[in-house]
Amino acid sequence: MSMWGGRFEGGLDETFEAFNKSLGFDQRLLADDLVGSLAWARALGEAGVLTSAEVTELEAAIEGLGVELASDPAPIAASEAEDVHSFVEGALEERVGALARKLHTGRSRNDQVATDLKLYLTRFGREFDGALRDLIEALVELAGETFDLALPGYTHLQRAQPITAGHHALAYVEMLARDAERIEDALERMDTSPLGCGALAGTAFPIDREALADDLGFTAGPTRNSLDAVSDRDHALELAFACSVIMVHLSRLAEDWIFLASSEAGMLQFGDAVSTGSSLMPQKKNPDAMELLRGKTGRVIGALQSLLVTCKGLPMAYDKDLQEDKEALFDALDTTHACLRVAAVCVRNVRYDREACRAACSRGFLDATDVADLLVAAGVAFRDAHQRVGHAVREAIETGVELRELAPERRQALFPEIEEDLVHALSIERVLGRRAAIGGTSPERVAEEVAAWKERLESW
Ligand code: ARG
Repeated sequence: MSMWGGRFEGGLDETFEAFNKSLGFDQRLLADDLVGSLAWARALGEAGVLTSAEVTELEAAIEGLGVELASDPAPIAASEAEDVHSFVEGALEERVGALARKLHTGRSRNDQVATDLKLYLTRFGREFDGALRDLIEALVELAGETFDLALPGYTHLQRAQPITAGHHALAYVEMLARDAERIEDALERMDTSPLGCGALAGTAFPIDREALADDLGFTAGPTRNSLDAVSDRDHALELAFACSVIMVHLSRLAEDWIFLASSEAGMLQFGDAVSTGSSLMPQKKNPDAMELLRGKTGRVIGALQSLLVTCKGLPMAYDKDLQEDKEALFDALDTTHACLRVAAVCVRNVRYDREACRAACSRGFLDATDVADLLVAAGVAFRDAHQRVGHAVREAIETGVELRELAPERRQALFPEIEEDLVHALSIERVLGRRAAIGGTSPERVAEEVAAWKERLESW
């Protein structure tokens, strides 16, 4: 029997019925729907709608249903219910008969689904925190091992200045820490209870919504406007956005490392655990794990886009369009969570080739800025120094040498102010070591940051 039979004479067209169903994907809200139903039964008891004996009977039935479905979820797949809410109502009716038909008093699937989704997202959000923390930990470990490993730094994908591999890893740590904050922010903002808002106008029964919010574990009390409460999906948007930003970050790491692992760069290798071969070319070792991280980013951004478009121009208050929020959101959450876990495995299975990195740092004028800085130290204005070093680079390119390899008389003619031996002053250790201000790439500074992150992780 449908939930609205009274007003109707005919049944649903089969094609539409299948189209209208959401149980296939909203069944993941089952545990939250049961929690919401338990709290609602108690709230109806407090409001005098149900007797305390009825509340007790309903509580036992709801809890029993949860236990039974946890051990055998087959009845869900076999059910013809439209969605998880009607499934639960039907299953309760099988257990307690007519009493189950009282549970929906003053409640709508509109405030119910809004509540379920917030409860679900709160639970899932906590799992995200663990996955983010683990990836951050893996990157901090890598940074600890590579705090002094010189690597060419790029802008515009042109060699720019040397950096340390540890500094590079910690850049991603900063991004992911912001991601964790973003999720925490979103969870905090969604921490209000929509239950008791009815279909759109509020409930006509004397429900103590403060107590109900407490019972459900929402810390910021009940939502203050029923129209907003049943149609608000900001929390879905915010988490999909947070997921998209995480994926943007992971895709950048993937791209960096795919490049460094290419035969052309040859500075990094992925372990067998995260590489694949070719079915045809026996010599191949491909960074598929990283490519999938990069590839799945589009899918998560697509989910955000889909949610935004679903919510755009939606007339107040609830509309069935909102049923379309779930598949995109769940996919964004699942995909991002899986990617975080795979990324951590990749970080633990990557190895820099120290010699190749060092060799790469020695060609391509990565120390040109330092020559300009040495001129500045000798009293030359930076713009003039920049100009003169630029000319020197041009000359060096023509003769096929680096600045530190210029013939002594040319070096003397070009930079008479610099007294220090250029080979020594431009050693990779000196170039890296100069960037010791907060935020810089010097090994000493990176080691400090690694220590600070390790400490932070201890209380994370
Ligand atoms: N399954 C719906 C959803 O996910 C909730 C049901 C509300 N439906 C309705 N016709 N008022 O949004």
